[in-house]
Amino acid sequence: MGRNTAVKYPASFAIPGDQEVVNLLALARDLGINLVDTAPAYGNSESRLGALLTERHHWVICTKAGERYEGQRSSFDFSPQGLTSSVETSLLRLRTDYLDVVVLHLPDDDSAVLASDAMASLRKMKDKGMVRAIGASTKSASAGLRALEESDVVMVAYHQEDTSQQVVLDAAHNTDRGVLIKKGLASGHSRSPTENLDFLMNSTMSSVVVGTINPVHLTENVTAVNPTRENESSQQ
Ligand SMILES: NC(=O)c1ccc[n+]([C@@H]2O[C@H](COP(=O)([O-])OP(=O)(O)OC[C@H]3O[C@@H](n4cnc5c(N)ncnc54)[C@H](OP(=O)(O)O)[C@@H]3O)[C@@H](O)[C@H]2O)c1
Repeated sequence: MGRNTAVKYPASFAIPGDQEVVNLLALARDLGINLVDTAPAYGNSESRLGALLTERHHWVICTKAGERYEGQRSSFDFSPQGLTSSVETSLLRLRTDYLDVVVLHLPDDDSAVLASDAMASLRKMKDKGMVRAIGASTKSASAGLRALEESDVVMVAYHQEDTSQQVVLDAAHNTDRGVLIKKGLASGHSRSPTENLDFLMNSTMSSVVVGTINPVHLTENVTAVNPTRENESSQQ
């Protein structure tokens, strides 16, 4: 809902208007979804969610820190000052006094950032109550494993056609850490979204963060992971 440039989806799309976003969020809530994922690097996604999301207590809000996207270019800042300023700005934009999850928005050299004091900076904000859970959105399996040693949650790409992060899912499961799956439908390139969701539901993850601006897809996806909903609605 915040950005449609430099994205990897199969087709271009128009950013939905406010009423469409309100309708999507209401549908998601009605379908039982309670987690939203955003980031400072997702255009104006945080500000739009801050303005349009109601019932704060219902939602688990996950955002990120360390990457910005301006002028159609990404830049990165994982310094203590940069991360603190990023989280403070996210709190303002999302119009909330706490964030449920903040993950480091890591670039390709994810291990180098994790070797710095970046996670320690997030931990200080957790200790102050600004953030409830901290972690990292990683690219390499080695960075995923490292992040699990010093945080609460990792966000990793994982789907039927790419299970290279399996070792991270296993380690998280064994150490009782959270796993958020990104790109679970291969960013729209999945051959069978519903089959893929079924596959993900049988893995040891906490949540799948599925991207969609299409209410039909949203409903299909929830029905795929919870077939009883289809029966319930057909009986009403
Ligand atoms: N931390 C990071 O670095 C990072 C990187 C990438 C993503 N993420 C997070 O992970 C989320 C998901 O990743 P993603 O958006 O890249 O990919 P995704 O969830 O794997 O796929 C989204 C794509 O699948 C399509 N889609 C969804 N349901 C469908 C259905 N039932 N049938 C057909 N097509 C369907 C969507 O199009 P429609 O809109 O038409 O449904 C969209 O093009 C992102 O939104 C973001 O929050 C994080």
